[in-house]
Amino acid sequence: MEIRQAVPENAEKLIEYLKLVGGETDNLTFGSEGMPLSVEAEKRFIQSYLDDGRSAMLLAWDGDDIVGCGSLMCMNRRMSHRAGIAISVKKSEWGKGIGSILMDNMIAQALKAGIEIISLEVRVDNKRAIHLYEKYGFRNIGTFPAFFKIGDEYVDFELMTLDLRGM
Ligand SMILES: CC(C)(COP(=O)(O)OP(=O)(O)OC[C@H]1O[C@@H](n2cnc3c(N)ncnc32)[C@H](O)[C@@H]1OP(=O)(O)O)[C@@H](O)C(=O)NCCC(=O)NCCS
Repeated sequence: MEIRQAVPENAEKLIEYLKLVGGETDNLTFGSEGMPLSVEAEKRFIQSYLDDGRSAMLLAWDGDDIVGCGSLMCMNRRMSHRAGIAISVKKSEWGKGIGSILMDNMIAQALKAGIEIISLEVRVDNKRAIHLYEKYGFRNIGTFPAFFKIGDEYVDFELMTLDLRGM
């Protein structure tokens, strides 16, 4: 397994990967339809991470297959000390440490980019992800009621932050 920064040539594989992981849980902002982006738009989206210089989209590869994806999205202006993250791993590969390796890489990139606070939102019942985030020092700073609405079901989310100041 290898972690590499996404490049525009990965767009088609990434689109297929997002459809797969979107259909495997109800934890993400999309389902089996994936993200509504054409290959060209996905290429531009990936390029925007490269152009940004501070943000990073990291892909975990098993041979030619994407098995995980972690994005660090750095913010601007008065929030330029902050970044958000998103992470997913293909279900068949859960529990093998890929999520942890992606977190290591995203936090290293955040420190390199001068980020002081990383934030994320996670379903309150997503115990595996919450365990992963707590392992890296993220703490719950509150609950956002009805953060998702999936069909008729409202889902509460935990808001979590990792304070990197002093690290
Ligand atoms: C969350 C996710 C990224 C974790 O990836 P992963 O590759 O399985 O992560 P790792 O193998 O590095 O670590 C998983 C940790 O959770 C623990 N774990 C597994 N099942 C668990 C459970 N039911 N409850 C609590 N912890 C659990 C593992 O023991 C491991 O912790 P450890 O390193 O202390 O032993 C992956 O499950 C995923 O993609 N889920 C679907 C998408 C998602 O939920 N993304 C997050 C949205 S906020």
